[in-house]
Amino acid sequence: MDTVSADWLEHNREVLADFRPGPKATPLGRVERVSDGIALVTGLPDAKLNELLRFEGDRLGFVLTLDPDSIGAVLLDDGDAITASSQVTCTGKEIEVPVGPGLLGRVVDSLGRPIDRDEPVTAETHMPIERAAPAIIDRDLVTQPLETGILLVDALFPIGQGQRELIIGDRAMGKTSMALDAIINQQHSNVICIYVAVGQRATAVQRAVETVRQHGALDRCIFVVALASDSPGLQWIAPFSGMTMAEYFRDRGMHALIVIDDLTKHAATHRELALLTREPPGREAYPGDIFYLHARLLERAARLCAAKGGGSLSALPIAETDAGNLSAYIPTNLISITDGQIFLDSGLFAANQRPAVDIGLSVSRVGGKAQIPALRNVAGRMRLEYAQFLELEIFTRFGGLTDAHIKAQVMRGKRIRALMTQPRTTLLRPVDEVALLEALAQGVFDAYPVECLQTLHGLIGAHLDAYGPAPLRNVFDAHGELDKTMRSELVEGVRRLIARVAGDAAPESP
Ligand SMILES: Nc1ncnc2c1ncn2[C@@H]1O[C@H](COP(=O)(O)OP(=O)(O)OP(=O)(O)O)[C@@H](O)[C@H]1O
Ligand SMILES: [Mg+2]
Repeated sequence: MDTVSADWLEHNREVLADFRPGPKATPLGRVERVSDGIALVTGLPDAKLNELLRFEGDRLGFVLTLDPDSIGAVLLDDGDAITASSQVTCTGKEIEVPVGPGLLGRVVDSLGRPIDRDEPVTAETHMPIERAAPAIIDRDLVTQPLETGILLVDALFPIGQGQRELIIGDRAMGKTSMALDAIINQQHSNVICIYVAVGQRATAVQRAVETVRQHGALDRCIFVVALASDSPGLQWIAPFSGMTMAEYFRDRGMHALIVIDDLTKHAATHRELALLTREPPGREAYPGDIFYLHARLLERAARLCAAKGGGSLSALPIAETDAGNLSAYIPTNLISITDGQIFLDSGLFAANQRPAVDIGLSVSRVGGKAQIPALRNVAGRMRLEYAQFLELEIFTRFGGLTDAHIKAQVMRGKRIRALMTQPRTTLLRPVDEVALLEALAQGVFDAYPVECLQTLHGLIGAHLDAYGPAPLRNVFDAHGELDKTMRSELVEGVRRLIARVAGDAAPESP
């Protein structure tokens, strides 16, 4: 026997000599009752809030409520195999999800398990889904724009990196479309996107993934999906899981955008679980902690200061209203938590305005500072003109007013509205947006029928690339301003485009 083996043997003999076998206590809990994705468990006095529990048959659940003699546990896997008297053990761990760039381009469930294909996700590490929001001292002002590519939003309700902007409106008003447009537009930026689907149908999620894939933005995106058919537990944790995956990028000095589609369904799941665990119901039968739940979730979106890497996490939570009722419990909560809201109105949608944003009820409270100055200048003028037009339109609807000045205002207003009507996924760069609004302000469109403006969004990018000012990349100076010659060149570009469009639309008779 060589010396290495002899040493090894000697060492292990010593270890064995010191070993004293004895009983080790593992608290074993017992399921008293199980129904609707909730299990009432007794016999685990050391269980902690949000701790992961392991049920018989390797099923997972977590602690939602702690009562003096029992705990309310939420099942994460299907609970068919779990019955009264099943055994439960504590794991001593919180719920964790895989994080890292390996998740980009993947579709995962709330626990980070892949659902797009069999290949496992490569995680850099695992992080708990509940993490504290950055302290005030670690935050910085929102100064960088988050461009959505949607003219109306970028011009009137600009969003900054680190901002939380609520997208709210009735069913099928284009909420998801707006958020997906914002995600697709990030393929031209350095922002990574996380789309969280809560309580949706599988076909709706498939459509969303497909839309993003078709526009080549999937590689910068993570989809976290908890379908309506999944357990309430998985739906409950999905926004938190998505937030943790997004924070990985924020904490490394990168920029991320999270879309949560939608928090109304998340609130309903929370209410369901709370009622099943016998928490006292409050307003609209929601438990009292629903505000805190969503506040602590959205508070994690932030722009960090330079000492913390200068990363940012912006959030576009989505909420659904019932018959446009903004003063219901969940909408008012979310409006007061976020830094502004974009309200989609059913009347405007019915009038064929897409996106159907209600200018009066929408607001962006912090993004204005981050807007490119060149865009801010033209957008300010346009906002005023448009607001005046909306007032005037009511009076002039029945004809009557013939004042030339008012007629001109109405005519301009109609062109603004046509320009704000933008088809899905025809996204604009800041330079396109500035060019269109400058041309509008200079009256370039006044001579053309409103219909000609409808196709501009899809054409302007390629047109400016071909005929616009030569170094299109450096149109804006270091301060984000536009110099005079650039401005007139851009307007000239738009003038040529609208003339071409009008020429195609109505070929002149010989
Ligand atoms: N800018 C747009 N241009 C044209 N059509 C649009 C636009 N935005 C949305 N739509 C259409 O409106 C419909 C509803 O859109 P979407 O599914 O995004 O709404 P939603 O508010 O998310 O609906 P739900 O409440 O079902 O989640 C879709 O058919 C979509 O194609
Ligand atoms: Mg939707």
